[in-house]
Amino acid sequence: TKQKLWGGRFTGQTDPLMHEFNQSLAYDQKMHAADIKGSIAYTKGLKRVGILTGEEEAKIISGLEAVGKEWQEGKFIVQPDDEDIHTANERRLSEIIGPLGGKLHTGRSRNDQVATDMRLWLLDEIKDVESGLRGLIRVMVERADKEKDVLMPGYTHLQRGQPIRWSHLLLSHAFSFRSDLERLQQLIPRISVLPLGSGALAGNPFVVDREFLAKELGFQSVAENSLYGVGDRDFIVEFLMWSSLTMIHVSRMAEDLIVYSTAEFGFITLSDAYSTGSSMMPQKKNPDSLELLRGKSGRIFGNMAGFLMTLKGLPSTYNKDLQEDKEPLFDTLTNVSMSLKIFEGVVSTLEVHEEKMRQALTMDVLATDLADYLVRKGVSIYLDLLSARLKNILPTKIPFRETHHISGRAVALAEARKCQLNDLTLDDYRLLNDKFEEDVKNVFDFEASVERRQAIGGPSRKMVDRQISVLREALKQ
Ligand code: ARG
Repeated sequence: TKQKLWGGRFTGQTDPLMHEFNQSLAYDQKMHAADIKGSIAYTKGLKRVGILTGEEEAKIISGLEAVGKEWQEGKFIVQPDDEDIHTANERRLSEIIGPLGGKLHTGRSRNDQVATDMRLWLLDEIKDVESGLRGLIRVMVERADKEKDVLMPGYTHLQRGQPIRWSHLLLSHAFSFRSDLERLQQLIPRISVLPLGSGALAGNPFVVDREFLAKELGFQSVAENSLYGVGDRDFIVEFLMWSSLTMIHVSRMAEDLIVYSTAEFGFITLSDAYSTGSSMMPQKKNPDSLELLRGKSGRIFGNMAGFLMTLKGLPSTYNKDLQEDKEPLFDTLTNVSMSLKIFEGVVSTLEVHEEKMRQALTMDVLATDLADYLVRKGVSIYLDLLSARLKNILPTKIPFRETHHISGRAVALAEARKCQLNDLTLDDYRLLNDKFEEDVKNVFDFEASVERRQAIGGPSRKMVDRQISVLREALKQ
């Protein structure tokens, strides 16, 4: 009967359900290329310390390449006894080149091998995630640049607050994604640490040159402690944390867009390409893309929480629990990378209804500007009562707390009369405060309100342009 790779000390057979339970090949075959790459580097390492002759090295490498090719062409035939990608590749290697294949694993363990494969695989896949994120930021910046004239209410508590530019809102989300981009780049040095040469736990007795291996495989550094090398999975946790936060940003923006796409708001319409219908209600056009994005954020956070739970309280070095790192990582990567691409599509194709946004700009969103108007008007009625000497040392502007109150009275008056703030007469305003003058009518201009916000970070045209150039600069990095 066939033997497991590790079968020497065993006399009994593995229970079939146990085999199924134990195997990871069904999902870790994703890492076939990383596994072959790691083995080729290790073969070279063994040759350099005299474990393999040059001829053996060449044979093993071409054997490994042949195995890699089988995977690439979909011709690799999985055998019932294959347990994971590492045993499957080694089994196939020996079938192709004979017993010489058995020399490859000298001084190596699946423990340092799997940790190396995971890091290599993730480093490669992260490029795709990064480019997805960049693509998303780019379409947001381009839209923001084109649609600067579009004004809308900005919300707090989902209640209309103050006028802003639509671009300003888009860019606010783009800045979250810019931080995600920075954070992603900052993960790389901690993923790029080579475990290979740590052995099962106690290091490599054939003194394989680990700095050579790191260079061959493109790692930035070498795990300095073999126990750490085989037992550390923080790089996976960090990626899962990164993904959770990034998806939370996706979900918050998705939620804005879902709300804006309702008939009640009518600010945007999603393209048909990213919407679906209802099987029962013929009129429906549902924002499924955005809802899935919002939903995926929960699943990805769950992957992170689940894997942290797996790690909690594990003894040092390798334990089979660590095999449970794969599915959450693979699932997260697939979904994050798809989400970023879908979101880019949604954002680049949605239609903005400028008129609807305008209509939502009711005059009450200028109540703050009305209070600010009085602040600018100068001396308070109460301050007027003070001596000239005191006036010089006290601020001559009306305290905002006071103007806020006066503006609030104006809002209440308009509400009582069922009219808008700009329908109140100058006499009405003068009853509230004698600082109001003819020019109060200039307050009731949304564009002017937005343009007054010239401090860095504001929605004025100039400050929106500044944001766009900051983000464009970040995309060059
Ligand atoms: N398939 C295993 C994993 O993913 C590889 C390492 C197995 N090592 C061991 N000592 N059983 O973790």
